[in-house]
Amino acid sequence: MKTYDDILIDKLENGVCCITLNRPEARNALRTQLLAELSDAFNTLNFDDSIRCVVLTGGEKVFAAGADVAEMASMGMMGIMQDERPKYWASIAAFPKPVIAAVNGYALGGGCELTMHADIIIAGSNAQFGQPEINLGIIPGAGGTQRLIRTVGKALASKMILTGEFINADTALSAGLVAEITQPESCIDRAIELAQKIAQKAPLAVQQVKAALNKSYETSLSDGLNFEREAFVMLAGTDDRNEGLAAFLEKRKPEFNGK
Ligand code: HXC
Repeated sequence: MKTYDDILIDKLENGVCCITLNRPEARNALRTQLLAELSDAFNTLNFDDSIRCVVLTGGEKVFAAGADVAEMASMGMMGIMQDERPKYWASIAAFPKPVIAAVNGYALGGGCELTMHADIIIAGSNAQFGQPEINLGIIPGAGGTQRLIRTVGKALASKMILTGEFINADTALSAGLVAEITQPESCIDRAIELAQKIAQKAPLAVQQVKAALNKSYETSLSDGLNFEREAFVMLAGTDDRNEGLAAFLEKRKPEFNGK
């Protein structure tokens, strides 16, 4: 896989790839180049059958401090209108394999929005989540007003977005934004451990589960149930479903081949 400037790619054992945001001098601010690289990496990993789950992190100190404010300041309304960044965000959102965000330190603005593109968020106890755009005279622009409210509910989302106040890892856990809290130094390892567990499952079932869970954000219960049913029926035609059921009955470990 190719190398990038603003992100590091680390293909690990057992079907997991770790992507690390790598602009420590700017608190991993998400300049256009970084988003373009992230989008390119996800597009490449989509077609890499050896990778079944991705861990996304900013390292042990900071996840990401949001959009690059200096870059944003150089863009007027026309620039924002014709911005290529929504295209990159869309391809990150469309990545069909599971993504686990390992979040230490600040996840602010676009950084918080990026964590919400992940399927599971593991937070170090030092994590802080916030949407401070209101302090800059702007609003969240990569899904914050929509995804945060669906995740933590109207009361907390409105407080965070209207005041710009951050929440810590404990509040994020009790609000349902994060799945687990770890020591900061264990956060990435724990995310990798979970990713390796997911990578052992039947890949087609995993991708259908991700699609169905995401569907539930966007649709009525009856449409969501229809989507789930169609996915369930479709999976009945896979080798991996036959293997999974047979392995259970034969009291052995299944060997899934993604077919
Ligand atoms: C550009 C940034 C940056 C950012 C930090 N830096 N955040 N550069 N864009 N978002 C740079 C600083 O300018 C500084 O550069 C260096 O990183 C270290 O920052 P400090 O402030 O000195 O660090 P610290 O005291 O640890 O404070 C960290 C921080 C703070 C709390 C994260 O930097 C901060 O509040 N950043 C802005 C957060 C924010 O408002 N995010 C929302 C952005 S808008 P120098 O050169 O001085 O060392 C947004 C909209 C999304 O995300 C729209 C859709 C994409």
